[in-house]
Amino acid sequence: MLKLENLLSIYNKLIYTNTMITESYTESRKKSVSLFRKIQENPGKYISISGDRPTGALHLGHFFGVLQNRLILQSVGVKSFILIADYQFYTDRKCTNPQEIEQNIQDILLDYLAVGIEPGKNMIIFNHSNIPELNQLMLPFLSLVTVSDLNRNPTVKEEIKFLKDVTGAMLTYPVHQAADILFCKANVVPIGKDQLSHLELARKISRKFNNYYGKTFPLPCGLLSESPIILGVDGKKKMSKSQKNAIYIKSTEEETASLIMSARTDSFPYVSYNPEERPEISNLLLLYCLCTNLDPKVVADSIGEKGAYYLKRMLVDALNDFFLPIRRKRMQLKKDLGYVLEVIQNGNKMAREEAINTLEEVNIKMGLVI
Ligand code: TRP
Repeated sequence: MLKLENLLSIYNKLIYTNTMITESYTESRKKSVSLFRKIQENPGKYISISGDRPTGALHLGHFFGVLQNRLILQSVGVKSFILIADYQFYTDRKCTNPQEIEQNIQDILLDYLAVGIEPGKNMIIFNHSNIPELNQLMLPFLSLVTVSDLNRNPTVKEEIKFLKDVTGAMLTYPVHQAADILFCKANVVPIGKDQLSHLELARKISRKFNNYYGKTFPLPCGLLSESPIILGVDGKKKMSKSQKNAIYIKSTEEETASLIMSARTDSFPYVSYNPEERPEISNLLLLYCLCTNLDPKVVADSIGEKGAYYLKRMLVDALNDFFLPIRRKRMQLKKDLGYVLEVIQNGNKMAREEAINTLEEVNIKMGLVI
């Protein structure tokens, strides 16, 4: 396993090789780096919230992104809420088989525990549907945003681009997400670039609420993911379940091998690291380096004309070695689902207590006391 102290340095090395970085993203990254320094100095002052939609088990893109960031916050000692955002599952899809979402939630819980999240007072795992107060907080929050705020959200715009019908839930889920962020008075939100507009809305709601009714909420800051973008085995799109290009934390060694060996590469007869011109091979190098803490350029040079097949063989071994203890632990946990369910039940109890208190404070401040 990689040492946590090493992770930030790897990410810092790799992030600058990513060609998709924009100006404002670079700005946000700089702020995140200085925020992270402050967090390390005084972890007790920070509360973090992050979440996943339960659309399926978690894959390597999740692992080398959000999950490792959560482990870093855990190791630093920041109180962290981790949300399985089950109501968000329904913003853009119907679930024709309710067992599917139940299975997804179970898979994600197993993934969290297998990678080393240690549930307890400092790491609170919970889900939307067990915290009704979040829905109630959403109503006053809706009165603080305008229809144009909702229509303008670039992430939502992207999500509805190819949808025939846009649901009310789709347009308003960022307000529900603001309730996720604010109910626990989180001041740190570890997120990827696509979530920045949601965070902006939460900040707006926090500011407005505090202006109208008195200081209640902190102004949450984004801790931008330090992780590079991991492409799927097609070498084209970001790794994701919907693109069917993912390797999962729970994948077997054989599945991992067969996916990597059939991963798309280009026709150059040698290996080199060039994410812009050779995204497929560079992505394989990147994955290798995330598992081994080596530099992708150095690895590429050492493989050179031995070619892509050689790299793939190395990568299969590196991935399977890296994930062996995690996968073993996952198998063990799967035999004790009673414990796994207890974890989320305890988390829900703690999260709900916070939500009840915050809702009460909100109602009192708004004069809703009779
Ligand atoms: N929208 C996030 C995603 O799709 C999930 C999420 C829901 C979330 N509520 C949150 C993330 C609160 C951070 C904070 O990944």
